[in-house]
Amino acid sequence: MGIRINPSILSADFVNMQDGLEAISTADLAHVDVMDNHFVPNLTFGPQMVGRIQDVSPLPLDVHLMIEDPERWAPGYAELGAYSVTFHAETTENPVAVARRLRDIGARAGLAVKPGTPIEPYLELMPEFDQILVMTVEPGFGGQSFIANVMPKLGLLREARAQLGLDVWLQVDGGITLDTIVIAAEAGADTFVAGSSVYNSGNPEAAIASLRSAAHS
Ligand code: DX5
Ligand code: ZN
Repeated sequence: MGIRINPSILSADFVNMQDGLEAISTADLAHVDVMDNHFVPNLTFGPQMVGRIQDVSPLPLDVHLMIEDPERWAPGYAELGAYSVTFHAETTENPVAVARRLRDIGARAGLAVKPGTPIEPYLELMPEFDQILVMTVEPGFGGQSFIANVMPKLGLLREARAQLGLDVWLQVDGGITLDTIVIAAEAGADTFVAGSSVYNSGNPEAAIASLRSAAHS
């Protein structure tokens, strides 16, 4: 199975977003962090901005919703053309209904869990999803340190995926660097979100290439 590097535009210059998107065109998907200042203590942007990002991005969009009420908001991101829409397990009583709605519209459906949220209750829901996002920092901000003690969740997901015979991507997000990407890949992740380590490197294209080869090593 392949690997994917998804730079997070949270670390791009918000006033020059088109340049920020073009700078990562050698990556796989552009990771777009939507925050509502309720589910997380930070605020980014909403559907209007993501719609414009979708218009100009050379890469398909991997939208990560850190918002309450995904029933109300998630379908709109699928409708505007996002390749994948990931919402948090902590924000809904009925993740399957949200996932089905996203897939009906034509997006890949993703389920995210915060570092403190156990993955066990969600393993049996894997057939309803195209990707599972194991957060490796507390969601809300870029530039935080990787939390290694969530790695066992990837082992459980990998096992369940094999048992169920599924092709679900296992994503990690937060604190991904040349060192931590190796740890996450060994634990079973195949899709890597990296914000500050790509954009603060001075050379996003080189950073993406290095992350890619480290994940393969
Ligand atoms: C954090 C976001 C991440 C963030 C990662 O809540 O979901 O996507 O941009 O940033 P780094 O790679 O700097 O930890
Ligand atoms: Zn994210």
